Amino acid sequence: MSASPIDRPSKDAPSLKVLFVSPEATPFAKTGGLADVAGALPLELARLGHRVWLVIPRYGTIDGAAHGFKEWKRLTVPTASGPVKAVIEQGDLSCPQAPPDCQVSVLAVRYDPYFDRQGLYQESGIDYPDNLERFAFFCRAVMELLVLLGKTSASPPTLLHAHDWQTALCPVYLRTLYAGRPEVRGLRSLLTVHNLGYQGIFPAKVYPKTGLGPELFTPTTLEFFGSLNLLKGGLAFADFLTTVSPTYSREIQTAEFGFGLEGVIREQRDRLVGIVNGIDVEVWNPATDPVLPARYSVSDLTGKRVCKTELQREMKLPVRDVPLLAMVSRLTAQKGVDLVADILLELMELDLHITILGTGDPSDEARFRSFQARYPEKIGLRIGFDEDLAHRIEAGADMFLMPSRYEPCGLSQLYSLRYGTVPIVRRTGGLADTIVPYSPSAVREGRATGFAFDEATPEALLTAVLLALHVYENRNEWRSLIEAGMRTDTSWARSARSYADLYRRVAGGGLEAGTVSPK
Ligand code: ADP
Ligand code: GLC
Repeated sequence: MSASPIDRPSKDAPSLKVLFVSPEATPFAKTGGLADVAGALPLELARLGHRVWLVIPRYGTIDGAAHGFKEWKRLTVPTASGPVKAVIEQGDLSCPQAPPDCQVSVLAVRYDPYFDRQGLYQESGIDYPDNLERFAFFCRAVMELLVLLGKTSASPPTLLHAHDWQTALCPVYLRTLYAGRPEVRGLRSLLTVHNLGYQGIFPAKVYPKTGLGPELFTPTTLEFFGSLNLLKGGLAFADFLTTVSPTYSREIQTAEFGFGLEGVIREQRDRLVGIVNGIDVEVWNPATDPVLPARYSVSDLTGKRVCKTELQREMKLPVRDVPLLAMVSRLTAQKGVDLVADILLELMELDLHITILGTGDPSDEARFRSFQARYPEKIGLRIGFDEDLAHRIEAGADMFLMPSRYEPCGLSQLYSLRYGTVPIVRRTGGLADTIVPYSPSAVREGRATGFAFDEATPEALLTAVLLALHVYENRNEWRSLIEAGMRTDTSWARSARSYADLYRRVAGGGLEAGTVSPK
């Protein structure tokens, strides 16, 4: 995926200077797909010749030595309860197989009382009670960092790209507490919504901890049915909004998917676009993946068969030539894991294996554990978070289940395509935008890459799985599905260009200062 010289900005398209701010990023800290996006998109932009900074919290769980983190600066961060001294550590994300000047500066905000914990946002399913203080502090630190870069760097960032509720206060602070600061004058902001189901809602009484004045606690800014809503603040103050697929950008304008913010989103729809995520095709490459027992490519799938038998061994299943279904997922209602649990008894009547890797809702975990205890010959289960095992499952399985109730983009189905594992998805959000569903004509034309169903019901999921199992018996059709999936371009190349075009519009031409102030 290295950029050719023509990918780099020409003289008339000067390179962009973008500061990404994200609560998680691979390879440093991850709970879900946001981390994969924040670890890969900055690299792809850097490959295109742009200057990119990535700012994350310096969680205690990050292996600082392995990632070369070193103290870079000390910052005094003003907060509602007084100044806090933070350390900014610096590391690099360098781009493999790319020009030597291609790198992303990683800056990590270190303040151990907030970030040296076992989890990122919660432990044992319970959110940290001081999440507002933690992420308001993080956003203030980012603003101070921008001021510092504005003072000291010859070429400071001109765009701030925030992600999800944890960083949504950055665009708010930029237009309010920092509005008069010359160091950040002209800085434009974007906010990407990766999942509208998580908004950062806190009781009104803790609002003063944001450090913002009472005039901003209104229904057009940060108030939401009497509570504080950080994402809503970001939606109001960012210069431009994006989400992670075109279908999801339309869905969130409806009551079914808007989680109460559909009205706000509808009002902002002229400055909202959906750009589908890519994946890091170097990290997720079955031809080179170091954690697989064997490697393979679309022209030689022998290694995939080895991956399947080794996966059966690893998951303590008998090594047999039966269809192997898989799920790797956060165990939450969003992902439709209850639909999978609801059809497990029917599936157990069939000659197949199913392997599940996930963690999340304790009741889902318990439900899968009890099924596994009852059917140890057919169900392989791992409760927990295991990145390497996720790769081996993507490689070893025949089919990947993603019956999400909603899915802003979804990365796992893209990993499945790349690893020749056929996704079975609910037609929603990014799943609708990235999977071409099976039909006899679509498979004949070599377009079909998976199976899709519409209703979020166990019956509809079961029907799709039964169809997939039927098609699996037809070796030619199955091979066509695998090949079409593996040949699909899932890389960041095209989407990174869409972001770069959008950044240009936001930074200059398309949107004039003042036209995007909160309504
Ligand atoms: P989301 O971000 O909503 O969880 P995505 O499909 O965008 O969904 O991304 C999920 C990412 O998290 C994928 O990289 C997937 O492999 C990974 N993942 C989810 N659960 C686990 C787990 N238990 N162990 C390892 N990786 C996981
Ligand atoms: C969120 C969404 C998921 C998306 C990911 C990265 O976690 O749930 O659909 O792929 O963000 O954008």
